[in-house]
Amino acid sequence: MSDKHTPNPHEKIEKNVGLMAVLIAVAVSFGGLAEIVPLMYQAEAIQPLPGVKPYPALQLAGRDVYVREGCYNCHSQMVRTLRFETERYGHYSLAGESVYDRPFQWGSKRTGPDLARVGGRYSDDWHRVHLVNPRDVVPESNMPSFPWLAENALDGQEVTARMHALKKLGDPYTDAQLRTAADEVAGKTELDAVVAYLQALGKHAPRGG
Ligand code: HEC
Repeated sequence: MSDKHTPNPHEKIEKNVGLMAVLIAVAVSFGGLAEIVPLMYQAEAIQPLPGVKPYPALQLAGRDVYVREGCYNCHSQMVRTLRFETERYGHYSLAGESVYDRPFQWGSKRTGPDLARVGGRYSDDWHRVHLVNPRDVVPESNMPSFPWLAENALDGQEVTARMHALKKLGDPYTDAQLRTAADEVAGKTELDAVVAYLQALGKHAPRGG
């Protein structure tokens, strides 16, 4: 046994903070790249799931109201791949469900429940009452009331302009959809639109948990 200690390479790194910092940065970058780069080449991450189409006029108007009112501050729209999530909400969320969501509404803040699978869970009437005053159907609810949605009429021109803009960005709206958008929302309120939007959430998700 020699009493002369020969440092191994690890020891050299551990005793040199500068070198260690550089190598940590390299290691972390490789980890990040290994996670992110394959996603960019995965067709399923950028292609719509079967049946997923750009939002029809009424749902699109509802989505805009959802964003305007900040519903995302309390509601996520992303079921995670965890057992207790899929048992509560349904199939975990897939990227191909939200290719036409600009901006996407995944989020992580959950003061209220996740809404990615709420479509069809309640009747239209339930949603109407709930949005105007949540405590009428869920007495312990601390969700704010949104009574003005029932009074605000939709603007057909605005919805049509939005659809034209989305088409420019690549959403495959047909000319017929653009022509009839204003008729589709005529005489409807923001409440009608939000309910239509909520009822369509999760419609194209795979069944089961
Ligand atoms: C300050 C937080 C907060 C905001 C903002 C908020 N919510 Fe909620 N929401 C809740 C809470 C808490 C619940 C659970 C109690 C209840 O059902 O009212 C809930 C429940 C819901 C439910 C029922 C979900 C289920 O699975 O039972 C829907 C639908 C909903 N909210 C839609 C909306 C919409 C649409 C908006 C925006 C217009 C919105 N919420 C804004 C807190 C919020």
